[in-house]
Amino acid sequence: MRIYRAKDFSDMSRKAANILSAQVILNPQCILGLATGASPIGVYQQLIEWYQKGDIDFSEVKTMNLDEYRGLAAGNKHSYRYFMNQYFFGEINIHPENTYMPNGLEMDAEKECRRYEDLIYRLGGIDMQLLGLGHNGHIGFNEPGAAFEADTHGVALSPSTREANRRFFDGEEAPREAYTMGIKTIMRARRIVVIVSGESKAEIVQKAFLGPITPEVPGSVLQLHNNVTLVGDEAALRLI
Ligand code: F6R
Repeated sequence: MRIYRAKDFSDMSRKAANILSAQVILNPQCILGLATGASPIGVYQQLIEWYQKGDIDFSEVKTMNLDEYRGLAAGNKHSYRYFMNQYFFGEINIHPENTYMPNGLEMDAEKECRRYEDLIYRLGGIDMQLLGLGHNGHIGFNEPGAAFEADTHGVALSPSTREANRRFFDGEEAPREAYTMGIKTIMRARRIVVIVSGESKAEIVQKAFLGPITPEVPGSVLQLHNNVTLVGDEAALRLI
């Protein structure tokens, strides 16, 4: 595992954006696995800036997002599709039909998860997966206890994750279920870039990257992947 230590959130974002941009420049037809949440917003902003300067071209890139809330339509401002359009896809020259996410409106979980997993396989697999790390160690929506061998599946969100996500719901109730790539799906990505920022992530970063590999800390499975880059700011990397 490679670790890049950044000064702060914006330095972390630039460093991680550099890695994603290198991937796109080296393989303009690559498949990027993407995440939502607070952590990647600065990465997306930086990539948009480089796109606007003409340094990076997304016209042949395909993206596959990690997860989506079950029951939310793409137009719902709390859906991850909406988030991605707003923070990234709407600002770059990616073709909307090349941006894939689980379909939150398909209520048949088994059918939707099989469709998404098959799609990842048919497209040739994810070249580089961007990941955030939840305070309880989750990656995607794989909560503590999730089986390492699971691929894309439906999940009930833990109280702590729903609590953490409340900030995005303006007082409304956050959804209780989601579709997520499984740990096995994530581990099949050829390269993984994890971004972490802030003091509140320090303990879980230490557990995930230096602690025992256990389903109780889903992110700890990344210790078994052969191409992981951790990019964090000083506060988040304080204990490692
Ligand atoms: C987002 C996702 C989540 C987040 C994690 C960290 O698509 O799958 O696992 O990466 O909850 O969230 P932030 O970045 O908001 O701390």
